[in-house]
Amino acid sequence: MLGGFDSYLFRQIFSSYAPCKRCSIEIEKEARIMNTLKDPKTAAELDRLFESARGDPLRFVRLIPHALKGITERKTLWEIMTPGAMKDVFIPIDREKGGLLYVLARSMAARRIVEFGTSFGISTIYLAAAIKDNDGIEVIGTEIEPSKREAACANLTAAGLADFVDIRLGDAMQTLETVDAPIDLLFMDGWKDLYLPVLEMLKPKLKPGALVVSDNIHTFKKTLKPYEDYLSSGDNGFESITLPLTSGFAVSVYTNGR
Ligand SMILES: C[S@@+](CC[C@H](N)C(=O)[O-])C[C@H]1O[C@@H](n2cnc3c(N)ncnc32)[C@H](O)[C@@H]1O
Repeated sequence: MLGGFDSYLFRQIFSSYAPCKRCSIEIEKEARIMNTLKDPKTAAELDRLFESARGDPLRFVRLIPHALKGITERKTLWEIMTPGAMKDVFIPIDREKGGLLYVLARSMAARRIVEFGTSFGISTIYLAAAIKDNDGIEVIGTEIEPSKREAACANLTAAGLADFVDIRLGDAMQTLETVDAPIDLLFMDGWKDLYLPVLEMLKPKLKPGALVVSDNIHTFKKTLKPYEDYLSSGDNGFESITLPLTSGFAVSVYTNGR
């Protein structure tokens, strides 16, 4: 308990204590909110985007004639649902998955995150918030549909996170080829037939202990079977678990056989 003279002495000592510039920066950093998802600008942009994404069911209904035409022409799902045909559809992760991505990236102090399939940038906002709060390097996202990539860049700017992302336009197999190592976290959410080729291409750049998080494991069970087997067999340097979040969310760690 401080009282009287003790308290006077305490005040005198500490009011005259001038921390060095470096210390005051550290103190300031500790004092500011360290969850960017709670920043009003970021939270408002996520609210706005999730609200727009609520229009997805109607957008899918509008695609029915296109899908029926493709079926009569004996096209595959991926030939019908091209990125161009799906240019207005968000198909985003939900808030629960976004929150999990943020927490995972924070827990491992991820500095470089790669995302396959950016769409309008909802998942990218969660990942970029973690990179910002980790004092990390960047999120490298990729989107093949030009109008979506443009919208994603604008949305990341509105969320106050443009400085933490590099959203590359084009096919992931080309745009992600030049990503620098090491990668701490790889998020897979593009077209499912490319999950395995993208993973194989980026595997040499994964840091030991890196996470590979993959959406829609249950929705596209057949297409993703070889991918899921690759991650869960234990023969390829990964340990994996699929969480029963909507449509199946696999979280895999790259152990590199250790
Ligand atoms: C499910 S959405 C991504 C949703 C996003 N992750 C989110 O949570 O907001 C998949 C996206 O991957 C894009 N895509 C599909 N194939 C691609 C490819 N080869 N290269 C880059 N992007 C691709 C599609 O255009 C689509 O916008």
